[in-house]
Amino acid sequence: MDKEDALNAAKLKHAELVKKIRKADAEYYQDDAPSLSDAEYDKLRQELEKLESEFPSLENAASPSQTVGAAPAKGFAKIRHEIPMLSLGNVFSEEELNEWLAKTRRFLNMEEASPLEIIAEPKIDGLSCSLRYEQGVLIQAATRGDGAEGEDITQNVKTIEGIPHTLKGNAPEILEVRGEIYMGKKDFEALNKAQEARGGKTFANPRNAAAGSVRQLNVEVTKERPLAFLGYALGQVSESLGQSHYEVREKLKSFGIPETFYAISDDLMGLMQNYEQVLEGRADLDYDIDGIVYKVNDLALQERLGFVARSPRWAIAHKFPAEKAVTKLLDIDVQVGRTGVLTPVARLEPITVGGVVVSNATLHNQDEIERKDIRIGDYVVIQRAGDVIPQVVEVLLDKREGDPPKFEIAHECPRCGSLAIREEGEVAIRCTGGLICPAQAVERLKHFVSRLAFDIEGLGAKIIEEFYEDGLIKSPPDIFTLEERNKGSLTPIRAREGWGDLSEKNLFASINERRVIELNRFIYALGIRQIGEATAKMLASAYGSFEALRLAMKQASDHEAEAYTNLINMDGIGASMADDLIGFFSESHNEDVLDGLMQHIEVKPYIAPKAVDSPVAGKTLVFTGSLNISRSEAKAQAERLGAKVAGSVSKKTDYVIAGEDAGSKLKKANELGVTVLSEDEWKTLIA
Ligand code: IVH
Repeated sequence: MDKEDALNAAKLKHAELVKKIRKADAEYYQDDAPSLSDAEYDKLRQELEKLESEFPSLENAASPSQTVGAAPAKGFAKIRHEIPMLSLGNVFSEEELNEWLAKTRRFLNMEEASPLEIIAEPKIDGLSCSLRYEQGVLIQAATRGDGAEGEDITQNVKTIEGIPHTLKGNAPEILEVRGEIYMGKKDFEALNKAQEARGGKTFANPRNAAAGSVRQLNVEVTKERPLAFLGYALGQVSESLGQSHYEVREKLKSFGIPETFYAISDDLMGLMQNYEQVLEGRADLDYDIDGIVYKVNDLALQERLGFVARSPRWAIAHKFPAEKAVTKLLDIDVQVGRTGVLTPVARLEPITVGGVVVSNATLHNQDEIERKDIRIGDYVVIQRAGDVIPQVVEVLLDKREGDPPKFEIAHECPRCGSLAIREEGEVAIRCTGGLICPAQAVERLKHFVSRLAFDIEGLGAKIIEEFYEDGLIKSPPDIFTLEERNKGSLTPIRAREGWGDLSEKNLFASINERRVIELNRFIYALGIRQIGEATAKMLASAYGSFEALRLAMKQASDHEAEAYTNLINMDGIGASMADDLIGFFSESHNEDVLDGLMQHIEVKPYIAPKAVDSPVAGKTLVFTGSLNISRSEAKAQAERLGAKVAGSVSKKTDYVIAGEDAGSKLKKANELGVTVLSEDEWKTLIA
């Protein structure tokens, strides 16, 4: 074969390889349905690289060797939100809506009947996105992620028709618009048909289709998907856009941002009429909505109302009723959770509810099964609302055949066989196996790597289960020694079914990325009973470093110690929570896990989100007597300024703010020599 023939043969081979790799890429990235194993895929890539190194003229910018490959390893870059992206509280009925309105008025110290303008918008069922414009040019787009940090989807978002790359008119220097990316119902159906025709993956509903289309490493795929955007809120802005949400919407519209439809009303009846109307017209809309979002229209009032935990006080979602369906209860399984709670789960004859196939539903606990008299073989009504796990609403008793036995959760753990007990006053039945129970160990590991904890991409639930089974990861420190142990292993991860060089490399990369972790995430990751995300944050901010927290918890095991008093004096920490915390840190196995972890990771000391610079930051205050603003607003305002608000006066109190008719607390403050401020003095102090 002469040189030219060899080159021609190489060209053919090259074209064939490129085609195969492109096809595999499409299956993997676009359809989430790879037909090659990682190993087979890696082999193709190696062949391609070898060929290109022998015949450098084949290598060009379009070759897969130059493009993909690296991209999936990195995934999407993370973006911190200057202003967190929050979620919304829910109401489900007119009564609850009324209660929310009343509470909002109370917070603002408004009369019960005084007008409070509310703007109502549809709640779009898509995925939220923050668009950042600087000097009127779209420079960044991010998903919500965990609210504090999202993924950089700028390139994908730029392909969405309807999202302007440049704003019209005089846009502020910095403008972040938040809204929902969605897929229209007709477009969704057409996409599914097309996917089906070419043997690709179909999507369960428009929301999944939208999310799957945006989170594409290959931007070309996003470009071909019919996505749209509707704006509904602001993030960071360099100047005010108006005095009401309505005015903001109008401004955004004038810049070219698509906005949702809306209604404005200042009473419950008007809001309910709008709700009914939208609910009725819902089917005719070309996009899915799952409720109405109410927002206090006046931005100055919004500012006063502020936030509680992860949601604004000035907005609420009024959810549409859950969709229901009837199906047969085939069996009841008992699952063991992270803290040993046994949860009965209904295995159902699969049925479509609101576009999603449901085959499991939670039955909560023994009491719930008895209350609803649920028995295996029954026909049951199930419902599904949004992302919530499907529930069994009721049993259709007239369809029951014969008299099937009642179901009772055995007092024995289905996984480890340990005794399961129901403690006084608790509804839950708990496995007492603790650390010897594999189910608990696995659930704890899953929690440890979950999104709000270590957030390790590539260590999903299924992989954790497999790795646990095979002894690769038995407890959290094992995660961080996995790479080292894998090096000399005769059965390395890349040789496992479904794995390859690339995915192995990616897994270690995402583990290594998380060797440094924020204190609050770390505390949450430990999965201590009753310690959720918010409490973890509070503990992080109170103790500052992990060493300090650990030491304090050791000391607090003596209930006489100051450490114990400090702990239970924290807002939101009661005696039972304190017991769980102290118990966790004194358990010797947990100590081993912590010591093990500390050899491989670094826990970053907690840095308060925004160091508030105010004359009352770090001070302890007590409000007493009747004030002009509501007590809740006073408390929220003080907390925003970095102060702690306590319920009773002690030596540690810095200020007592006394309104009219102040009584015993004022007296105590005077006795202890604590500084007492009038409401006006307080206002001047924080002005
Ligand atoms: S306002 C500060 N308005 O619902 C909160 N959210 O469950 C700003 N959503 O994360 C949100 N339609 O993704 C708002 N008209 C609307 C909405 C809307 C859909 C989504 C949004 C949010 C989620 C909360």
